[in-house]
Parts: sequence; structure tokens; C-alpha cells
Amino acid sequence: MIDFCTGGSCNVRKETKNRIRKPVRVYASILPILFLITCRFMHQLKAPVILAIESSCDETSAAVISNGKVLNNIVASQNVHQKYGGVVPELASRAHQQNIVSVVREAMQSACAQPADLSAIAFTRGPGLMGSLLVGVSFAKGMAMALQKPLIEVNHMQAHILAHFIDEPVPPFPFLCLTVSGGHTQIVLVRDFLDMQVIGQTQDDAVGEAFDKAAKLMGLPYPGGPLIDAYAKQGNPARFKFTETTMPGLDFSFSGIKTQFMYFLRDALKKDGNFINENRIDICASLQHHLVTMLLNRLKLASRQTGIKTIAIAGGVSANSGLRASLAEEASRHEWQIFIPEFQYCTDNAAMIAMTAHFKFLQQQFCALDALPLARMPV
Ligand code: KG4
Ligand code: ZN
Repeated sequence: MIDFCTGGSCNVRKETKNRIRKPVRVYASILPILFLITCRFMHQLKAPVILAIESSCDETSAAVISNGKVLNNIVASQNVHQKYGGVVPELASRAHQQNIVSVVREAMQSACAQPADLSAIAFTRGPGLMGSLLVGVSFAKGMAMALQKPLIEVNHMQAHILAHFIDEPVPPFPFLCLTVSGGHTQIVLVRDFLDMQVIGQTQDDAVGEAFDKAAKLMGLPYPGGPLIDAYAKQGNPARFKFTETTMPGLDFSFSGIKTQFMYFLRDALKKDGNFINENRIDICASLQHHLVTMLLNRLKLASRQTGIKTIAIAGGVSANSGLRASLAEEASRHEWQIFIPEFQYCTDNAAMIAMTAHFKFLQQQFCALDALPLARMPV
């Protein structure tokens, strides 16, 4: 090595060298920072493409969303529970394991998306069945690790509500959402995409569970809600009367009607062994009318208390034709602006998980790789 720093000319040389080196050193040190800022900026500029996975109960579903537009919604339903009158958790987890690879592959292929195109992987973290959630959560984590992509956790009940933003028209904020599914019955005050407050909820069973249990008592397969709905269309809703268990405030209780319905059938069957077969449509219409009235009574109270007249419904039971029709009647009576989701976005689906993930992505709300599934998860 030649040492230029010897002899009389050394000082001049040193000065020149320092003058050249200093800016180079400064540039070299800020280059990585500049690179990171540019990447972050590009990342935000690039339309986010997210793969979303739903596995909270008995539907294995995957969807791809690009820049807020849902490209597909692949759902594999599990018929294995039909004969048991309800979801069997162990069987649900196994079916998710069987379905998840093909469901995710189909979602990616039909969106023409390559793994490298993805900006993030989203998954349902809860609430739901632990064994079912574990399949989706583990699959999403595996993909995120392998592809070096960020992870987004999604609350299933929040997602049911945000399904309203998949297609036009979208509800303006604030609005009230009656979220009715197999595991939940809630009235939610929705202030913004990710700002929600439960103002009323069931203190025991969910309304979907009441539909399913009643169907089981009548010998119908799971899920009984859609079948009761179908029979109810032809029946007389005023034929049989049930009494309502009232709860304070905006809360609900559906365990009472389950027991009441069980004794109603038992007593009627004692007198006439053929009672269910001969009266199925009227029984279904009367029960459905009773359940829908319970829901709408609380919703009307919530609207009066909050002064909010923008009303949405969400979740599996929002597919019910009686609920939809009664909501429309109340809307014209009380000047409500109502929002009812498309059928495919009422029951469990990954499109709603993708939509929620999109809003979380915009706020850079990512989660760590050690996020655990949660059987209970507040909105
Ligand atoms: O939202 P969802 O698919 O799963 C949960 O998150 O629980 O809701 C499933 C529930 C089941 O109880 C099912 O019987 C009910 O939604 N359901 C209905 C109808 N379609 C689905 N209940 C009444 N009428 C329907 N048309
Ligand atoms: Zn659901």
C-alpha cells in the first residue's frame, strides 16, 4: 500500500481527501435510510394485494383483494355436520385441513396472482372454534414466513360488518349494525371502518343457534336456519304464539325460546304424534316471526336511543327472508336507510376478511408471527 501521507505535501493531500470523502461517507450512511423510505413509499403507492383466509367455524374460505376490490371468494362448505344437528369441532378442524390448500390455490389462480404479487396475508384470528381457527392461522403464518410477507389479523365479527363495503351502496358512518350469526347476536355502533362499539348483545345463546336447535328438534338437518326460512315462506306466522324473554337495555336472550319450543313440541306431540309433519310450515313461520320480532324490537330501541337511522344487518341470519322483509317494513315506518348484504356475504366467507384486511393494511396494522387464535375476541 502506498502511504500518500508522508512528506511536505501531506497536508494538502489530506485536505483534498477529506473534502472528497466526507460527502461520500454521508451519502453512504443515508443511502440505506433513503432506500427504506423509498421502499415504504413505493409499498404504499403500490395497490395492495392481499390473500385472506377464513376458517373460524365450518366454512374454509380464501379470497384475494386488490386495491380494495374483491377479486374472488372461494368457499368450501362442510356437509359432514348435517346429521349431527350442529358443528362438530373435531370434524370441522379435519375438514379445514383437507380443504385449505385447494381453496387457497383456487383463490390465487382465479385472481391470476403470484405469491410475489401479495402485499400481505390476512387471517381470521377469532372469535370461533379453536381447532378450526388454528388451521387458518397456522396456514397464514406459514405462508407469511415462507414469502416474507406481513401478516394481518382480522376479527370475524368486525369482518361480517365490513362486508357492507365490498360492493356499492356502502353505509355512511355512523350506522347501527345488527350482527346475527350462529355464535353471536349483537347491535354494534359503527363509527368508522375500525372503530366499533357493541351496545347490545345476547346474554346466552345466539339467534342462529335458536334457529338451528329448533330445526334439530323438528328433525331437520344442520344448518336449520335456511330450512326454517324456506318452510316459513309458506306458513302462517300468527298460528302459534311464543313468549319473549326480555332483557334490560339492548341485550337479548335466546335460551328461553329454545326451552319453550322444546316443551311446545313435546306437549303437542303427546296429543298428536304427527303434529310436526302436519304443521311444519306454520310452526316454522310462527317461530321465525317470533325470533325476528325479538331482534327488531331491540334494533328499534337502539335506533331511538342513539338517534341513528342508518341501519345494517350482517352475519348468517341476515340471509333470513323474514328478517329482510320485516326490516324493510320498519325502514319505511321509521324512515331508516337500510343496508342488507348480498347472500354470498351473509354467511362465513373470506371476502369480508379480505375487505377488513384492506382497511387494516391502509393503516399499516400488521401483527406478529406469534399471534395466537382467540376463541373469544371482542369487536
Ligand atoms: O355467520 P355464519 O355463517 O357463521 C357464524 O359466524 O356463526 O352464520 C351461520 C348461522 C347458522 O346458525 C345458520 O342456521 C344461520 O346462520 N342462517 C340462517 C339463514 N341462513 C343461515 N338463519 C335463518 N335464516 C336463514 N336464511
Ligand atoms: Zn360468521
